[in-house]
Amino acid sequence: MSDLTWVPKAAAIAREAGARLREFFSEGVATEYKGDVDLVTVADRTVEKLIRTRLSEVFPDHGMYGEEGTREKLEREFRWYVDPLDGTTNFAHGFPQFCVSMGLEQRPAGLEQEQDGVLVAAVIYDPMRDELFSAERGRGAKLNGRPARVSRIPDLAEALVSTGFPSRKRHENPNIHFYHEFTLRSHGVRRAGSAALDLAYVAAGRLEAFWEFNLNPWDTAAGILLVEEAAGRVSDFSGNRVQLESREVLASNGLIHDEMVGFFQNMFAGRDLTPIPTPEEFAAQRAERAGR
Ligand code: IPD
Ligand code: CA
Ligand code: CA
Repeated sequence: MSDLTWVPKAAAIAREAGARLREFFSEGVATEYKGDVDLVTVADRTVEKLIRTRLSEVFPDHGMYGEEGTREKLEREFRWYVDPLDGTTNFAHGFPQFCVSMGLEQRPAGLEQEQDGVLVAAVIYDPMRDELFSAERGRGAKLNGRPARVSRIPDLAEALVSTGFPSRKRHENPNIHFYHEFTLRSHGVRRAGSAALDLAYVAAGRLEAFWEFNLNPWDTAAGILLVEEAAGRVSDFSGNRVQLESREVLASNGLIHDEMVGFFQNMFAGRDLTPIPTPEEFAAQRAERAGR
């Protein structure tokens, strides 16, 4: 019997939701467009409904804020941020990297709408690998019931890091510059397509860091608590306390955090950009080689 308050019930819901995603994944689903390249499927909507129903059964006093539109009992002390399917683009293409993400925030009475409460519980479930990442505040992070901890790699040069690119406002996003720079300064940058799993992987010591611009609270709420409970660190790009609506998240094993914040500062100031050949310069070199 677990002595945790919320995780056991939330984990059961995430597992049921994940099983449903797995079924949809093997059957194949039609894709619709919410925006330019912002995809949604019947799986996203069905699974959000399933989670809403289950949460109201097991935590009738809790509110829910879901990606596919659920806004329920938001005045309550406890609020779940739910992404029923994080990694929809992967899912729609048959690329097996996606998850269910559920983060619980406790909001003391009198808190302003735009103020954050405290994240108290997190569950991220990868149905393809049957991996359940979970945490409660002050109780540590777990992967399938065993303690999970961030890695001990002390510098960026030896780190494997990851990032993502939101599908909305793609032309306003500078992240490719950061992708370029961190690729040259680390063992590599992964772009696996599920922000919640990226955060869970930092918590489990599989990645040393993750950053992304413009994520939403349903993408990050669970992952932030997981990383913190796994002894990692989460901040905005300036190293300040992260807010659910910060629109910037930098999570790491803690050891490489200041180094990464330093690079963000330098890059925002126009410094530290390592030159690489432009396609035109490369083509000229290529032509020269071919001419020899
Ligand atoms: C997306 C994924 C992706 C990230 C995008 C998110 P969705 O969530 O987390 O990794 O790069 O910014 O929008 O749309 O699949 O739930
Ligand atoms: Ca998402
Ligand atoms: Ca989603």
